[in-house]
Amino acid sequence: MNTSALFDAYTWPSGLETENRLIMAPMTTWSSHGDGRIHPDEIAYLRRRTPGLGMVITAAAYVQPLGHAFPGQWSCHDDSMIPSLRAAADVIHEQGAKAILQIHHGGRMCPASLLDTQPVSASGEAAERLDADTPRPMTTGEIEQCILAFAEATRRAIEAGYDGVEIHGANTYLLQQFFSPHSNRRTDAWGGSLKKRMRFPLAVTDAVLAAAKSAGRPFAVGYRISPEEIEEPGITMGDTLQLVDALAARPLDWLHVSVRSYFAGSMRDDTDPVPPTRHIIEMLDERLPVIGVGLVYSPDEAAALLEDGCAAVALGRILLMEPDWPAKARDGNTADIRHALPASGGDTQLTIPMPMYRKLLSRAGWLPLE
Ligand SMILES: Cc1cc2nc3c(=O)[nH]c(=O)nc-3n(C[C@H](O)[C@H](O)[C@H](O)COP(=O)(O)O)c2cc1C
Repeated sequence: MNTSALFDAYTWPSGLETENRLIMAPMTTWSSHGDGRIHPDEIAYLRRRTPGLGMVITAAAYVQPLGHAFPGQWSCHDDSMIPSLRAAADVIHEQGAKAILQIHHGGRMCPASLLDTQPVSASGEAAERLDADTPRPMTTGEIEQCILAFAEATRRAIEAGYDGVEIHGANTYLLQQFFSPHSNRRTDAWGGSLKKRMRFPLAVTDAVLAAAKSAGRPFAVGYRISPEEIEEPGITMGDTLQLVDALAARPLDWLHVSVRSYFAGSMRDDTDPVPPTRHIIEMLDERLPVIGVGLVYSPDEAAALLEDGCAAVALGRILLMEPDWPAKARDGNTADIRHALPASGGDTQLTIPMPMYRKLLSRAGWLPLE
């Protein structure tokens, strides 16, 4: 496979230019200060991983205190966070890549113990997982404030020097909760029909795009989706194609399709072996660039995504295990690419903040161990 295309420059619709097609996937670090300010160890982690990438999409940062989903999560909910956010953008720029802040609200996935109050969501339906807290439905006033909070987070990203934001509409968090028939049982203007379930994610998108206009420089806005849910009822590929169509009518820079494995077929339909991202690329017909992700570990696999029509490839866990992936891929040293995490000492050896390293070790099977 010819992997040289991974190193071709790319210009996104907003005019933002990236040196190549390699992106660091957004990854939460669990390592920030208690108030959401970024820890120096997270800056070191970014410094170690950025060289050779075109763009880094940061860890999810919560836009409102009620959106705080993990201990040690980054925050962008208040102007007091701007200096901390700037430190991360600066280190990414120093190492030669573009910096994208992922903006996020956890909704019903935020533990009540972390929030110190009941989490909110589209409706009062708990997630289907052990120990999930039951959320309360957001009021219309809270919905409007939340949309504004995403716009305010975008303004902060601009002030902190970022090159763009990615709206986190994936992985079961609040935007997906409004789109999902499982978590959205509302009967008002924000739920019910497919069109009404789309209303909140689209309103957030429009507010973020409006805020991005004030940057006065190329400033990208991307959107991350999860194309399917396994729950019944749950988001189907048919639902997603309609949301994607509505997103493609807006001046976004990319659609980032979050799936566990890029090459796997439908999660809901055993008879459909076509990767969901491929369905989306085909339906979009070049109206919106697509970022592919999910168990892409070798340069050949990454190049295959570009051949499928992805504009760029996001790398997650492989960059935790092998920060030098871009250089090794470029130089053809693929045999040297490390595919496992050291079972001890990986924090210093690979510059991973200790709380994150502990978390990675604690989830069996998440990353292969040496
Ligand atoms: C440690 C870790 C943290 C993650 N945090 C986020 C996050 O903050 N936002 C997000 O959209 N996805 C997050 N993800 C998902 C990744 O962006 C990516 O989609 C997933 O890991 C699959 O890609 P990979 O196989 O290359 O790791 C996270 C994944 C990992 C492993």
